[in-house]
Amino acid sequence: MKEHIHPTFDKILKREDKEKLLNQRSIVIWITGLSGSGKTTIARDLELELHKKGYLTKLLDGDNVRTGINNNLSFSVEDRKENIRRIAEVSKLFMLGGVILINCFISPTKEIRDQAREIIGEENFFEIFVNTPLEVCEKRDIKGLYAKARAGLIKNFTGIDSPYEEPQNPSVEVKTENISVEEAVSEILDKLLPRIEYKND
Ligand code: ADX
Repeated sequence: MKEHIHPTFDKILKREDKEKLLNQRSIVIWITGLSGSGKTTIARDLELELHKKGYLTKLLDGDNVRTGINNNLSFSVEDRKENIRRIAEVSKLFMLGGVILINCFISPTKEIRDQAREIIGEENFFEIFVNTPLEVCEKRDIKGLYAKARAGLIKNFTGIDSPYEEPQNPSVEVKTENISVEEAVSEILDKLLPRIEYKND
C-alpha cells in the first residue's frame, strides 16, 4: 500500500513559516500521571496562562479523545498503545502547524511514552510527570472510578489491576500534594517559556 502514497510535505509551507506567523516555537507538552492525579486541572490553567501571553495552544485529554477519534479503543495494553500512537501522530500534525500541544494522558508505561517521544521527536517532547500517589487519587476519586475498579466493575484500571510506571527523567515533576495548581503552573512556565519563545535568528 505504502508505495502508492506520495507525501508532499516538502512542497507545502513549513513549520518554521507557521511558527514565524504565530510568533512562537511549537512543542508537545506531554502530561503523564494516574487517573485523578490532576493532569487536566494543571493543563487547563497552563493553557489559560499561555493564552493570556499570546500563545496558540491545543489541549487534548483522554476523556475527550476517547469519545471521538479513539472511541473504538479499550483499556487493554494494546489499545492503550494504539491510543497513544494516534494521539502522538495527531499531535505531530498540530505541532508542524506551529501549535503548542498540551496532552493529558495516563500513558502508563515507559514503552508507550517512548513510542510517543519517537513519533514526536525527542527535541519536541516536553514531559511532565504529575506525581500524585495512588492513595491520594483514590481518596479524591473525583469520577468515582476507583471505587468501581475496587468493586471489580471496571477491569484493567491503572494503579489497581493495570500498571503505571513512573517516568525516570521528566522535564518537570509536579507533586500535587505539596503545591498548589498556581505553583505547579508557574514551575512549568519557568522551564517552558524559554523553549517556546520565538527568536528571530
Ligand atoms: S491511557 O492509559 O490510554 O493513556 P487515557 O488517558 O486515554 O488512558 O484515559 C484515561 C481516562 O479514562 C481516565 O482518566 C478515566 O477517566 C477513564 N478510564 C476508564 N476506564 C479506565 C481504566 N480501565 N484505566 C484508566 N482509566 C480509565
